[in-house]
Amino acid sequence: MQRNGTDEQRGFTLWFTGLSGAGKTTIAEIVEKELRERGRPVEVLDGDIVRTNLSKGLTFSREDRNINVLRIGFVANLLTRAGVGVIVSAISPYKEARDQVRRRIVDFVEVFVDVPLEVAAERDVKGLYKKAFAGEIEQFTGVSDPYEAPAAPDLVLKTNEETPEESARKVIEKLEFFGYLWTPSPDTEYNWSNR
Ligand code: ADX
Repeated sequence: MQRNGTDEQRGFTLWFTGLSGAGKTTIAEIVEKELRERGRPVEVLDGDIVRTNLSKGLTFSREDRNINVLRIGFVANLLTRAGVGVIVSAISPYKEARDQVRRRIVDFVEVFVDVPLEVAAERDVKGLYKKAFAGEIEQFTGVSDPYEAPAAPDLVLKTNEETPEESARKVIEKLEFFGYLWTPSPDTEYNWSNR
């Protein structure tokens, strides 16, 4: 979509789901930077951070994870309606909660950050898989708790086959395709009279 000087850019929720260590946060950070550079208002809701405030005290039981996801969805919806580009990264392992959020947020883009469990476990950025395999963490997603992959995500990123920058590029292109971002035209810099 080219900017035509009258259209306002619409808010959206870009929801990254996938295993711990799949690359959600890394890709989200690159996308966030790009959106800011394009002058978009952006807010990030990251599971790890949300669990230190909004969802503080919640466990990793199925019920609590769904509450966590619904809370994130609630905030994301408010921000989306206010025109913000919202980036969520949360494992959000269960289909029922993801689908509930998806139904509520009109402008919703679901991105499945897909990586084989062995690769996430090999990366083990936080050292949690080692503990989970040793039985020291209960209900660890992918090890002792299920991850229900989305059936029809808007985008699938195979992070063991592409760099985070390549994944982020695909996300930006998808947002452009859906009309949430203007496609910069080659003469954007010189064409200010059209803005
Ligand atoms: S969610 O399941 O409720 O969506 P969320 O994204 O908020 O999860 O938090 C996941 C993060 O919590 C992981 O990246 C990891 O650092 C940490 N964590 C601690 N315990 C677990 C567990 N049992 N399963 C998955 N992640 C866990």
